Amino acid sequence: MKAAVIVTPGQISVESVPDPTPGPRDVVVQVAGSGICGTDLHIMDGEFAPAYPIVPGHEFAGTVAAVGRDVTEVRVGDPVAVDPSLHCMECYQCRRGRGNLCERWNAIGVTVSGGAAEYALAPVRNCVTLPESVAPADAALIEPLSCAVRGFDVLPRRLADHYLIYGAGTMGLMMMELAKRCGAATVSMVDLNADRLATAVQLGCTASAASAEELDRPRGWDVVIDCTGVQAAIEDGLGRVAPAGTFLQFGVSEYRTRAGIEPYRIYNKEITVTGSMAVLHSFERAGDLFTAGVIDPQVFISHRFPLDRYAEAMAQFRAGIGRKIQITG
Ligand SMILES: NC(=O)c1ccc[n+]([C@@H]2O[C@H](COP(=O)([O-])OP(=O)(O)OC[C@H]3O[C@@H](n4cnc5c(N)ncnc54)[C@H](O)[C@@H]3O)[C@@H](O)[C@H]2O)c1
Ligand SMILES: [Zn+2]
Ligand SMILES: [Zn+2]
Repeated sequence: MKAAVIVTPGQISVESVPDPTPGPRDVVVQVAGSGICGTDLHIMDGEFAPAYPIVPGHEFAGTVAAVGRDVTEVRVGDPVAVDPSLHCMECYQCRRGRGNLCERWNAIGVTVSGGAAEYALAPVRNCVTLPESVAPADAALIEPLSCAVRGFDVLPRRLADHYLIYGAGTMGLMMMELAKRCGAATVSMVDLNADRLATAVQLGCTASAASAEELDRPRGWDVVIDCTGVQAAIEDGLGRVAPAGTFLQFGVSEYRTRAGIEPYRIYNKEITVTGSMAVLHSFERAGDLFTAGVIDPQVFISHRFPLDRYAEAMAQFRAGIGRKIQITG
């Protein structure tokens, strides 16, 4: 089969690789759609230290093409979305119900071959069957949505909170849609990219600006979410959390990034600073939300590229053009 292969950091090519063969409890998925995200850029840049070569693509969905000997839950032809998490289920963190912090953390498309290929292998326990109303390619959005759902699991989710979100890329926009569902009084979006803010406006944010300074809210925001990973945004956002409010670090910074905090304000205003990492028992729920139409794939997926043009798709994503860029099978 054909697959996009990151041969070494900085070098990607579309090559012929052996077809995957399923183990007893594995499923082979014919990939209909595979999304590109920041993690793929990190892998391309030599971070997250997986072993190279690696086939990227941790956000994918498609149709079951083959099943292992002991698989009874799905059949050939079933549409499925794949949770890429490969928690070991045995380590200290897994046994405490925190598999996303697994001490032997692995993920499909990060440490083992992923969905930027014609076919991908997944344990059957990672597959969620899709209803007919959902197009399998669109369902590749369930994985990023499941990360956003995990983010909301660590947030207070009070009715009538005021939300401020930095970054109106795929993740910021998903956070915005979830905030609306959580009964937000207002959801304001900050981004330096005017095209991205235009989409936030189209999707019904309360206010949008290139700088939170332009948004008139002297009391601050109850929930501030960073979906940029950028120091300037993080520092600005931390300063805008209202008393008793929460700051969620969702954006992935470079390892070397540091951001200043005001310990006095955190103490004196009882501010919570928290993080959320990938997927934790949130994939199934993201599938339900996706099926219920919480995010509109027509808006979220801005470009589709064939597998042969993977490098071009990645370069476009890096340039910040469009929103979710998908590789079609
Ligand atoms: N925590 C998790 O589980 C998880 C999961 C998926 C993605 N992420 C991370 O979330 C972040 C967002 O993902 P995405 O796919 O939406 O990325 P993206 O690159 O599409 O969007 C980031 C947005 O931030 C904006 N931005 C950059 N600097 C800014 C600044 N100083 N002020 C305001 N806006 C600024 C950019 O213009 C861009 O629109 C990334 O860091 C990604 O790695 C985290
Ligand atoms: Zn991703
Ligand atoms: Zn583990």
